[in-house]
Amino acid sequence: MSTPEQPHPPTPSLSTERGSLAANIILVGFMGTGKTTTGRSAAIQLGWRFVDTDHLIERRIGKSVRALFESEGEAAFRKLESDLCAEMASWEHTVVATGGGILLDPVNRERLQAAGLVICLTASVEQIASRLEYDSNRPLLKGADRVERIAGLLETRQAIYETVTHRIETNGQTPAAVAEKVIELWRSAR
Ligand code: S3P
Repeated sequence: MSTPEQPHPPTPSLSTERGSLAANIILVGFMGTGKTTTGRSAAIQLGWRFVDTDHLIERRIGKSVRALFESEGEAAFRKLESDLCAEMASWEHTVVATGGGILLDPVNRERLQAAGLVICLTASVEQIASRLEYDSNRPLLKGADRVERIAGLLETRQAIYETVTHRIETNGQTPAAVAEKVIELWRSAR
């Protein structure tokens, strides 16, 4: 089984065991909810490794997610994303920031739950639109009427995001403050 390219920290600052504290923290949620910035911050505070699933896929295939969507279509991206979910069973001491559509596949949902503590970050449509105002990397938000696209996509996915027990609202909060909440949740969710 292949392992992510980022090195493990030599000595994790907090000892964990499967069955007590979750081995990994997995951030899910819509685009623009701050999974990457929050996840990186939480990983630094814990002394853990940080993996962003989109970035890992990009490194492995040597092209951007946007280019992959354009050349091979969304299904090819979803397949690589699902493969990563399967890999996560062997990861430890890792904070994972996932792509916003990762929960669409029920098999992914099961694999993520088994791999660690899943936490959903949430934000309002307005907040997401403002955070992604100048972004051109999200193929699903390409084109005009970005706010309506965000609102529509969020609405179709809302029920799936709501299946996640642990949720953190990020409106108006700094990534560092959200990262603190992530760590608190991880410590209390045994
Ligand atoms: C997607 C979200 C993106 C990326 C891809 C598809 C989605 O990740 O995986 O563009 O379906 O919501 P972020 O949530 O990190 O933007």
